[in-house]
Amino acid sequence: GSAGALAETLAAVPPARAATPAAAGVAQFSVPLTVPPRLRPYRSTATTDYYAVTASRVFREILPGTRTEVLAYNGSFPGPTVRARSGRRAVVRQTNALDTPVSVHLHGGANPMESDGGAMDTIAPGATKTYVYDNRQPAATLWTHDHAHHMEAEHVYRGLSGLYLLGDRDEDALGLPSGEFDVPLMVRDARFDDQGAMVYAMGDAENRSTILVNGRPWPRMRVKARKYRFRMVNSANLRVFVLCLSDGGEIVQIGADGGLLEAPVSTQVLVLSPGERADFVIDFSRYAPGTQLLLQNLIGPGPTDQVGSVMRFDVGDPAPDRSTVPATLAAYPALPEPTVERSFTLRMDEPGTGHMAYINEKTFDPDRIDTTIAWGTTEVWTVTNTSETIPHNFHTHLVQFRILERDGQPVPPAEAGRKDTVFLFPGQSVRLQLTFDSHRGVFPYHCHMIDHSAMGMMAQMEIV
Ligand code: C2O
Ligand code: CU
Ligand code: CU
Repeated sequence: GSAGALAETLAAVPPARAATPAAAGVAQFSVPLTVPPRLRPYRSTATTDYYAVTASRVFREILPGTRTEVLAYNGSFPGPTVRARSGRRAVVRQTNALDTPVSVHLHGGANPMESDGGAMDTIAPGATKTYVYDNRQPAATLWTHDHAHHMEAEHVYRGLSGLYLLGDRDEDALGLPSGEFDVPLMVRDARFDDQGAMVYAMGDAENRSTILVNGRPWPRMRVKARKYRFRMVNSANLRVFVLCLSDGGEIVQIGADGGLLEAPVSTQVLVLSPGERADFVIDFSRYAPGTQLLLQNLIGPGPTDQVGSVMRFDVGDPAPDRSTVPATLAAYPALPEPTVERSFTLRMDEPGTGHMAYINEKTFDPDRIDTTIAWGTTEVWTVTNTSETIPHNFHTHLVQFRILERDGQPVPPAEAGRKDTVFLFPGQSVRLQLTFDSHRGVFPYHCHMIDHSAMGMMAQMEIV
């Protein structure tokens, strides 16, 4: 079952080595967790909520006592959280107050190409663009982030990302922890210099040794002794998180990228590569008040990295809890019979041999259509990471796919639902099933270790 698959996954994790130097001089767990503000509509009608967002350069306190220049949506690092509803349209007027072009992509959303935030469909400095999101998809933990060609990696690194939580009635009816007990956690890493400035260098994973959760370094969170729901997004450019509680305690995963799982999955470990999401419940009522639990990462980005902490939960007093995690959460869409098979390889020049990254041995060309797909078709894609030492992942815009197999084996239940991003250790191969029945047009697919996509590991499909 899933335990065996998990053991295999963990066996593929490179062992931890020597410790990294203490980063940025921040004592771990000295800063309380904060939650990004909710973005309120400036106007709502019977069908539509209207939002306004401005991307700008601001200074924020990330490391205690230091002001760091970041890129922010509405001044917030990370950006504010949108809470949208299935079936209600969201119209977002996006203003670019930066001196570089931006493009805003709703990751996991099925939107027409004018609102997808394509790499070339950018907003010039000083300009405004309106994105229309139909939200014709089930409840899901989605996120927005910059996608401007060749700039996306640095823009996202410096802060242009935010959560977009889509809710619906089916989800409401489940009685999951809600309100203040439904907490977003955007996890990532960053590199700071001695003055506290964020340093971006492409492919610099090993030096990004400060872990940020919702923009706070290794925060602590006071929790009541009851159930909490967490919406986690790995918003790092390159870092993979393999997370567990320090006591090996149970984590109940209830959702993945594109929505809720069929049934809750009890696990001790969550594996999240950049762009992936996990929706999970931790029941802190099993701990005595005063317990301190670490959320730990079992994998590092490079040979000098150590197993590290991400954040700490400080368990307080018991609190009333009428939330539940029902045994049945959601129904998956049927898997129509596939009629087309395709293969894709992901490869990058090995360290020290170049700086290019390829899908099917080609780097991204916005003027080239790599894959032409007939609308309505169901396809099976075999995606292989042919790199010898470098992990990759694979993200498709527009469609939520299903992972049929990894290396010939069925995937564990936590990966069997709606997914838009799938992780591949070096040498691994996955088979994905995709149905193209929403919008026509040109959309990208790419490695979401976005330093890699900025190096060319991106291609385009046209649905006709
Ligand atoms: Cu979240 Cu094209 O990416
Ligand atoms: Cu996307
Ligand atoms: Cu990659």
